[in-house]
Amino acid sequence: MILTTSRLALREMTEQDVPELAAILQDATTMTAYEGPFDDAMVAAWFKRMRSRYATDGFGLWAVTLREPGSAGTGSASAGRMVGQCGLTVQRVMGEDVVEVGYLFNRAHWGQGYATEAAAACVEYAFENLGAERVYAQVRDTNLASMNVAIRLGMTVRGRFVKHYRGVDMPHLAFAMDRPARTAE
Ligand SMILES: CC(C)(COP(=O)(O)OP(=O)(O)OC[C@H]1O[C@@H](n2cnc3c(N)ncnc32)[C@H](O)[C@@H]1OP(=O)(O)O)[C@@H](O)C(=O)NCCC(=O)NCCS
Repeated sequence: MILTTSRLALREMTEQDVPELAAILQDATTMTAYEGPFDDAMVAAWFKRMRSRYATDGFGLWAVTLREPGSAGTGSASAGRMVGQCGLTVQRVMGEDVVEVGYLFNRAHWGQGYATEAAAACVEYAFENLGAERVYAQVRDTNLASMNVAIRLGMTVRGRFVKHYRGVDMPHLAFAMDRPARTAE
């Protein structure tokens, strides 16, 4: 287990999570900001990249599971099932390699505060465990739900940039928050 919050547990993704990963990455609505759903090869590449991030960086997007019995259902077939991904990755933002918090949840689990809860814990992990001075969230300028998560985390917009992804120019906002003074060394 990487970390827990009151309602959630975050752990590394494994091969067993690939069907749930596909349910997220192959949902057209969920993937609007990514220019549409992924095919199987893209899901496999995403999974492989995450496993290699764990190995090389020690962190990546982790599997988010529900701790509550009856929600994901401990003791049932759905126990420990991944309801979303949230975690930290190194990303190139405005010409700099930075630590980013990322969050993508299964649509059935939107609107319950899970993304903000998981992301807040990841941001704290970055400050406390990785020694990060600043954590970013890069958000496509059309992705209001994601912006609202960044705002709820306490982030502010630090810049605008264009990302080139899947053959499309995508204007993005660089949200970020700085390490609080109380955790400074
Ligand atoms: C981005 C994404 C994770 C946000 O999901 P979300 O459900 O809107 O965000 P949260 O989990 O923080 O939930 C917040 C909502 O839950 C509500 N909520 C309900 N119960 C709650 C509780 N106990 N605690 C906190 N919030 C609660 C909040 O009021 C808020 O509702 P609102 O959206 O109507 O204002 C989701 O839209 C997603 O997966 N999108 C696709 C992938 C993506 O684009 N990722 C970002 C890439 S930059």
